[in-house]
Amino acid sequence: MSDPRALQARLAGAMPPAWRAAFSAVPRHLFIPETIWLRTNGKPVPLRRSDAPDAWLAACYSDEPIAVQLDDGTGTGRGYVSSSASMPSVVAFMLDASDIEPGTRVLEIGAGTGFNAALIAFRAGAENVTTVEIDTDLALRARAALANAGWPVEVVSGDGTKGHLPNAPYDRVLSTAAVHRVPYAWVEQTAPGGKVITPWGTAFHSGALLRLRVSGDGTASGRFAGDTGFMWVRDQRTPHGAVEDRVRPEHDYTETVTSLHPHEPVGDFSASFAIGVRVHGMQSTLVHDDDDRAGQRYTVFLMDPESGSWASWRIQAESQDYGVKQHGPRNLFDELAAAYEWWKDAGEPDHTRFGLTVTPDGQAVWLDDPACPVAKRHPADSRPRPVASAARCSRPPAS
Ligand SMILES: C[S@@+](CC[C@H](N)C(=O)[O-])C[C@H]1O[C@@H](n2cnc3c(N)ncnc32)[C@H](O)[C@@H]1O
Repeated sequence: MSDPRALQARLAGAMPPAWRAAFSAVPRHLFIPETIWLRTNGKPVPLRRSDAPDAWLAACYSDEPIAVQLDDGTGTGRGYVSSSASMPSVVAFMLDASDIEPGTRVLEIGAGTGFNAALIAFRAGAENVTTVEIDTDLALRARAALANAGWPVEVVSGDGTKGHLPNAPYDRVLSTAAVHRVPYAWVEQTAPGGKVITPWGTAFHSGALLRLRVSGDGTASGRFAGDTGFMWVRDQRTPHGAVEDRVRPEHDYTETVTSLHPHEPVGDFSASFAIGVRVHGMQSTLVHDDDDRAGQRYTVFLMDPESGSWASWRIQAESQDYGVKQHGPRNLFDELAAAYEWWKDAGEPDHTRFGLTVTPDGQAVWLDDPACPVAKRHPADSRPRPVASAARCSRPPAS
């Protein structure tokens, strides 16, 4: 078997300087279970340490996420990754964004393997770290791995969207599972001046890292930073459903033609981030024609499982008029096109110009200034609603 220390040193050397010592001190392979799943042709394929020890070890020290559980451990065979050891460079980016020092009191949401909690414990001290994991088996495993590796962090088995009141207040709440709605418990359990750091996204866009500063008045506010695609916390997963179940031959539809190509509204990170913020509950899936070798003939499906609405947007390289069909009470393509126009009129803002404010009444996404909301959401409501901004807000700021 290869030498884990050499592999660990190489991975640690590729991490941001502030977290290299932690990556050098915490061996990742001590947290990775016997069976992992690696993605091959889009499908998770199992890899057992006992069958292929070198490949397993190489995976532990690659800068890749490692799936450690499928389908919530139910064995249903769907192949949905329900827990993973996150990609090391993404973990390091989140830690770097979290300003953790010796003595910082940290609540992590999503213990998973326990590796991230060990990195935090290396910096903050194990006695200052609590991590919550919703899956009982994973929580047990993470607790044992942390204790065996020498970082006896408190691992709580439970729903992390409720925080963990007995050890509050925290200086940092750091979620390693993404949310559409920031749980208010995270704000309530963070000391004034502390931070909530979480991946945040929408049904349309996997999202970005959100850094909120908690104030003494019970609110928290902050901007979005870099690209971080994480799995969702369990009760905020986007509903699963195959296109053929949602787009049925018996459905009626309207037909129009557009010159808008999906390249920008769907392919541009900041445009699609903004569209996800403005258009509630809309998912998208791209389906290539069976014989489309050059990637030039495909259909983008837009779907809203709640209302049953869908739109299809047909792309063929030989034409610059793209056919659009829309079914159901919502005209999803029209909503997408309007949100895209709104983003262009606002000066094509980068996603880092957006921010979010959480209050006991819900959350609001804003552009440049918390006084300029672009979508509001009530805590019990899954739908963000576009709001008209004050006139001064809709103008792109002077550079
Ligand atoms: C990307 S993994 C976390 C990786 C982990 N921090 C590590 O170092 O291995 C996300 C984890 O969040 C857990 N999770 C999902 N919803 C949760 C919830 N509501 N409360 C606590 N944990 C949750 C999942 O079971 C999964 O283990």
